[in-house]
Amino acid sequence: MNTSSAPGKIILFGEHAVVYGRPALAVPVTQVQATATVSENSRGGVWIEAPNINLSSELSRLALDHPLAAVVNSVFFALSVVRPPACTVYLQSTIPVAAGLGSGAAVSVAILRALSEFLGAPLSDERVNKLAFEAEKLHHGTPSGIDNTVVTYAKPVYFTKGQPIKTFRVGSAFTIVIGDTGIYAPTKESVGAVRKLRDADPPRWEKIFNRVGEIVWDARQAIERGDTAELGLLMDANQSLLQEMTVSSVELDHLIKIARTSGALGAKLSGGGRGGNMIALVRKENAPAMAEALLSAGAKRAIITTVQSK
Ligand code: MEV
Repeated sequence: MNTSSAPGKIILFGEHAVVYGRPALAVPVTQVQATATVSENSRGGVWIEAPNINLSSELSRLALDHPLAAVVNSVFFALSVVRPPACTVYLQSTIPVAAGLGSGAAVSVAILRALSEFLGAPLSDERVNKLAFEAEKLHHGTPSGIDNTVVTYAKPVYFTKGQPIKTFRVGSAFTIVIGDTGIYAPTKESVGAVRKLRDADPPRWEKIFNRVGEIVWDARQAIERGDTAELGLLMDANQSLLQEMTVSSVELDHLIKIARTSGALGAKLSGGGRGGNMIALVRKENAPAMAEALLSAGAKRAIITTVQSK
């Protein structure tokens, strides 16, 4: 039996613009995890069990482009396994689905690792990252690759599409409270919607993306200096641009407003938007009160996480 877990993630700065070649900053969130366990079975065939999404099926009965089937098949293909042994891939996850926390990427990474170990040929991080990116295309349409990268390497990432992976130094640890609107918001839809708008007026969108790129660069410097006050201002500026991109929502704006009036240094949505999660930068001692404030304002859950160099 082989088991592997992968964390969730949050985008600190730069979502959506990262799809168009601008940098973005993301960090793992270890408080939520996807876990894959692969074990032999006696009933024969390859089975996928994912109680969270009410799935219990033989692999051959799933469509080839079903994201879970595609990941399992990609391991067999990568390892040239023509006749897979009878086994069950069992998935558990505490990462909310379609909420901007990297659930799809975490499930893929956990399967890729557990199944390749079960087959006696563990995949390298580089191959896991590449194969998880292929699966991301099924989840996200035209992903940048940031989710699979931060989840595979489980460390802070300064990401630019198509460039070698860079981490960044966190000058002084800082605290984020994540608030979940509970609104189901598949990233594929928000990424697709942005693409349509951008294709209708590329010059306007390029300007927005450039402004996001500058914020991301400044945010990286602020994080390295440990300047949380500046970081908060940059979060607010990034949120204004996300609103301009139409990816915020009434529920996200509400939680962000509550966070700011409850003492956050800055707040913004995180991930694809139009639902899912927001993040608030807070002083460590204010984190429990912030979580309470967000829950009282309608958040379905709140997670406190610390960002530090790994
Ligand atoms: C999703 O976590 C981040 C987006 O920028 C999409 C992507 O980069 O693939 C919205």
